[in-house]
Amino acid sequence: MPLRNISWESFKNMCPEDKARYLKEGKLFHVLLAQQFSRENLDKLGMLATHIRRIAKEKEGLIFLQELLRHKRAMLYFSQPSTRTFLSFCAACQILGISIGEVRDTSTSSELKGESQEDSVRTFSSYFDIIIMRSQIGGLAERMAWVLSNSERPVPIINAGSGKDQHPTQALLDIYTLQRSFEKRGGIDGKTIVFVGDLLRGRTVRSLSILLRYYKDVKQIFVAPPQLQVAQDIMDILTASKVSFELSSDFEKVIPRADAIYMTRIQDEWDSEKGESARIDTSKYWFTARHLSLLKSDAVIMHPLPRRNEISTEVDHDPRAVYWRQMRNGMWIRTALIATIFGQDQVILNYQGNN
Ligand code: NCD
Repeated sequence: MPLRNISWESFKNMCPEDKARYLKEGKLFHVLLAQQFSRENLDKLGMLATHIRRIAKEKEGLIFLQELLRHKRAMLYFSQPSTRTFLSFCAACQILGISIGEVRDTSTSSELKGESQEDSVRTFSSYFDIIIMRSQIGGLAERMAWVLSNSERPVPIINAGSGKDQHPTQALLDIYTLQRSFEKRGGIDGKTIVFVGDLLRGRTVRSLSILLRYYKDVKQIFVAPPQLQVAQDIMDILTASKVSFELSSDFEKVIPRADAIYMTRIQDEWDSEKGESARIDTSKYWFTARHLSLLKSDAVIMHPLPRRNEISTEVDHDPRAVYWRQMRNGMWIRTALIATIFGQDQVILNYQGNN
């Protein structure tokens, strides 16, 4: 059981790479940090997601999948807004036959009566077999995982977005989207990935950038207004891993070099004073129809969504705009992840079906 043999104080103060070492003990259990995955994990999860996607095309296949974990229950504890992450986790559970409980608004739970999040999570673990949680508090999922690992009901915690720090399952679906997009072009190795927008506070960028380190000769280019440029800790991680990266504020100049452009919205919910980021001119960092001609013919445009103005809707119909597929990939990779946590990966890979 990961995290059982370490005190909270020691775990809390470790760097993410050291924390990940504890999470890698034994089979996949808590999913908290991008750092806990390896290239091998990413290849396996992608392969499993593709298997699941194919099996789910047939009614018999879907019924097979729904039988696998009918005896399990999942709790979705989302105290921060979410559409895609919440719904794709719901759909992933439904594909595997898992029943779902949810708390999305803590003003309807006993947290309003002053119950701590720790006690809430311990309560969930009394009724459910896995807890999928999103919180505005960075590191909360880690704390909860430690609490449960050291309780009588250690159930796995999946971090579905924590504060400004990490969103590991978004990074998994982003990697899966890149794997699929570059399937016939030698995979992700050697590609140039351009991140655009609020790179300072966007947790999806942080987690994906960390996972991209596992691919050979990938170049990462961070394009943002100077105030929203990627944080120093990510640059330090990339430097330590000898990853080639660049910072830029000239979006148009970078577009022709990209194999994938990863757009993000301004995360103004983190502004320290109201209207702070509205004062930054971000319009130079918007992808519009005009930019399509600058982009390589086989490049892809991604976005974790939700979007605002940073990708104009005219771009949606271009075959290089893959953000809708990316969103659906979230359902498949999350299904693969949950199936792996509950030890069903091999059963799924062995399924023959009619196709
Ligand atoms: C992202 C998030 O919540 O961090 N959304 C998502 O999970 N698809 C990105 C965002 O909110 O901008």
